[in-house]
Amino acid sequence: RAARALEGACVLLTAGPTREPLDPVRFLSNRSSGQMGFALAAALRELGASVVMIAGPTALPTPPSVERIDVETALEMYLAVMTRVADCDVFVATAAVADYRPVNVAEHKIKKHADEFTLHLVRNPDILGEVAALTASPFTVGFAAETDHVIDYARAKLQHKQLNMIAANQVGGAQGGFECTDNALTVIWDDGQCELPMQPKSQLARQLAQCIAERYQIYHAS
Ligand code: PMT
Repeated sequence: RAARALEGACVLLTAGPTREPLDPVRFLSNRSSGQMGFALAAALRELGASVVMIAGPTALPTPPSVERIDVETALEMYLAVMTRVADCDVFVATAAVADYRPVNVAEHKIKKHADEFTLHLVRNPDILGEVAALTASPFTVGFAAETDHVIDYARAKLQHKQLNMIAANQVGGAQGGFECTDNALTVIWDDGQCELPMQPKSQLARQLAQCIAERYQIYHAS
C-alpha cells in the first residue's frame, strides 16, 4: 500500500460547526468542536493530498501544510466551497452545518418582553448535496450524524444525494460523536462498508483517510 496514496490529488474539506446569528450577541449553533474534521484534514495531507479546509468557528490550530479558510455561517461556508470546488478532486463534508438560519438578524440586541418568543427560520443550502449534484462533481464523501437508525439513514443519504462514500456517525450517546476526543464510524459505499472502531479521532482519521484514498483510486481508475 503506497504511503502517499493521495499524492497529486486536491481535497476540499469542511470542518467544525456553523453559527447562525440572531442579533449582534447571539447565534444558533451545535456541539461540533472541529476535532474530527481537523484530524481528517491532517491525515489526508499526510497521504500527500493538497488540502483546503473551510472551517467554522473553533479554537483549534491549523494542521501543518493545510490551507485554511475561516467562515462563520452556513451561507459563508457554501460560498467558500462553491468558489473552490472546481479545483478539487475529492470533497469531504465533515462540518456540522446548520440546516436552518434565522430569517431576520436583528440589528440591535433583542430585548426580552413577552413570555414566549417565536423564531422564524429558513433552510440553508445543502452544501454536500449541491456539490454531489454538480455536472463535474468531485469524488464526494459525506458524514451522517444520527442518534438512531444510523446505518439506515446513512445509506439513504448516500443514495439520495448520490455520494461516493458516507461515514455514519452515532451521536448523542455516552461515547463518540460531537465534542469528545474519541469516535467510531461505519464507512459505507455503493457495494461495501467497513467498521472503524472507537479510538482517538487522530487515529480514526488516518484509517478513514486510507479508506477514502483506496475508494478514490478505484473510482479514478474506472
Ligand atoms: O467536530 P467534532 O466535535 O469532532 O464532531 C465530529 C462530528 C460529529 C461533527 C462529525 O464526525 C460529523 O458527524 N459530521 C457531520 C455532522 C452533520 O451535520 O451531519 P448531518 O447528518 O446533519 O449532515 C449530513 C451531511 O451533510 C454532512 O456531511 C454535512 O457536512 C452535510 N451538510 C449538512 C447540511 C448542510 N446544510 N450542508 C451540508 O453540507
